[in-house]
Amino acid sequence: MDFKKCGPLRGEIMVPGDKSISHRAVMFGALAEGTTEITDFLQGADCLSTISCFQKLGISIENTGGAILVHGRGLQGLQTPQDTLDAGNSGTTTRLISGILAGQDFSCRLTGDASIKSRPMDRIIRPLSLMGASITSERGNSCAPLLIKGSPLKGIAYQSPVASAQVKSCVLLAGLYAEGQTSVTEPALSRDHTERMLSGFGARVESFGKTAVIWPRPRLTGQKIQVPGDISSAAYFLAAGLLVAGSEILLKNVGVNPTRDGILRVIEAMGGSVQSLNPRIVSGEPVADLLVRHSSLRGTTVQGDLIPTLIDEIPVIAVLASFAEGTTVIRNAQELKVKESNRLDIMVESLSAMGVDITGTDDGMIIRGGRPVHGAQVHSRLDHRIAMSFAVAGLAAEGTTTILEADCVNISYPEFYRDLERLQG
Ligand code: S3P
Repeated sequence: MDFKKCGPLRGEIMVPGDKSISHRAVMFGALAEGTTEITDFLQGADCLSTISCFQKLGISIENTGGAILVHGRGLQGLQTPQDTLDAGNSGTTTRLISGILAGQDFSCRLTGDASIKSRPMDRIIRPLSLMGASITSERGNSCAPLLIKGSPLKGIAYQSPVASAQVKSCVLLAGLYAEGQTSVTEPALSRDHTERMLSGFGARVESFGKTAVIWPRPRLTGQKIQVPGDISSAAYFLAAGLLVAGSEILLKNVGVNPTRDGILRVIEAMGGSVQSLNPRIVSGEPVADLLVRHSSLRGTTVQGDLIPTLIDEIPVIAVLASFAEGTTVIRNAQELKVKESNRLDIMVESLSAMGVDITGTDDGMIIRGGRPVHGAQVHSRLDHRIAMSFAVAGLAAEGTTTILEADCVNISYPEFYRDLERLQG
């Protein structure tokens, strides 16, 4: 797919529902008693993988394109699947469902696509094993396929070596089935959607700084959940609005949870204009409308506790930095190497191909911005966030940018290219 430097982007847009929140609404709805109704659910391939896994576990889920209805069967209501569970490309499905499966009274096999089969699962195998779970990597390489035999679990106080909401949520979900309380302490606070939503369903979950604690065997009750727009999807339009001369875009109904809004803080530090309007709480999550205007940007430093709050936005932040005056340094972002692709290497390689002065480091990158950026041919590596980041770069660079395997945006934003085109008038 080809992208060329474009004229002003103008208008309003509603980005699709938050991916992390959509997954959790289905999972917690399945474990609750009664029906959970989910509106603005993200109909992306990752969240559909979560639906299909829970259907195989005996949960009736109606998805007719409008609201999703999850007919929960309670904490003990899952049934032995007849078949291998397939998480597709989704790390969130794989890691969160593993925590739930560890506490059941049946065994199952969990797999995914080539990317999932190469991503580290030792980060969940270790804490779940400490809780008494029986979970092994079929090929002995700490990756999926995983064999999980439901076992009696005991609560632990886990010090996670990584700031990861997938690890934290996996352990907290296993904690629902454990004897005694379970806690997870992170080196930096990751997204807290699990804590917020589980407590809305009736679980006792408390947070103390970087530690989350859960008490077992609550009675969870079906809820109505309205999923806010995904700030990780909004990030591409924020970036495009900032970079393309004359642009002004109103992004309506975007989730601005403080554990997810690091991109807004980075844009502010770079001198970009984003106004947050009409702040409100929707289904326990902070939401606002965001008005972005074209701005000239300067380099900044992105590091430390900020990193987990913008972990999925680093590729598009690297694009912003390429067009900013001065140097941007990104540190402590080694997690990017184990996402859907090695996002550090790919950003360095592909932005270099576009003429950007960029150097990869062990845990991030250094971008000396402000040089002319030109189009190039880049491969998405089947990573949705790489494809969308380069689509934005292509709208601001000279010449033509060609993205190979651009369709992978269906993982988190099936309508992405149509929405981008619509704003070009
Ligand atoms: C997610 C957590 C993050 C993020 C991913 C979604 C979640 O992963 O990158 O896209 O829904 O919990 P990590 O927990 O691996 O940082």
